[in-house]
Amino acid sequence: MRERVAATDGLVLRRWRAEDAGAVAIAFADPLMQGQSVEPVDSVRAAERWTADRGDRWDAGSAYSFAVVDGGDHVLGQVCVGPVDRRHAVGWVSYWTTATARGRGVASRACGAVARWAFDEAGLFRLELGHRVNNPASCGVARAAGFAVEGRQRQKLAYDGVRFDVELHARLATDPEPAPR
Ligand SMILES: CC(C)(COP(=O)(O)OP(=O)(O)OC[C@H]1O[C@@H](n2cnc3c(N)ncnc32)[C@H](O)[C@@H]1OP(=O)(O)O)[C@@H](O)C(=O)NCCC(=O)NCCS
Repeated sequence: MRERVAATDGLVLRRWRAEDAGAVAIAFADPLMQGQSVEPVDSVRAAERWTADRGDRWDAGSAYSFAVVDGGDHVLGQVCVGPVDRRHAVGWVSYWTTATARGRGVASRACGAVARWAFDEAGLFRLELGHRVNNPASCGVARAAGFAVEGRQRQKLAYDGVRFDVELHARLATDPEPAPR
């Protein structure tokens, strides 16, 4: 399984490194990133633990988290396949981009590239993801990366005392490759 994947337009997916912790801490300081990690990532130390934990999970085969970087190796975001259910060859996909990298197709291209990797190299058949219904950008990423809408989970998530519906998407290894945008 490759640990470095070239996506279109110079984007690269690669494993996280300890020296990414500063960029990770900045990324998680964005209010939109609230809820993107179970453990708060609110300091460089916490970001160091976060990057180390990504490596541990990769080595254990439970989740494959890639840093999304540009040609200069600057961190633009993350895409992750995991948790992985090997018995059924199913993986959960998640992603985020840094505030300055948004709105130029980074997440869509990275999500498409990690899906191809998951089918071709990680041996998965079905990839799932979900987003709050008030997150149209995440829905746009899912659609652009070929994840069809499968349904809505009512009031699944609670943030600050408010419950949110979640829309589920999935892409199968046998689905057609999405048209390039
Ligand atoms: C969601 C997120 C990953 C999108 O990243 P991005 O790199 O800006 O995404 P892209 O540029 O690839 O845009 C994806 C699509 O969403 C659309 N989009 C982007 N922002 C949007 C917005 N605020 N409202 C509606 N659509 C939006 C884009 O137009 C694009 O659609 P298109 O392909 O039809 O043109 C980013 O906003 C983020 O990190 N948010 C915080 C964390 C998060 O919500 N993660 C997802 C959790 S489910």
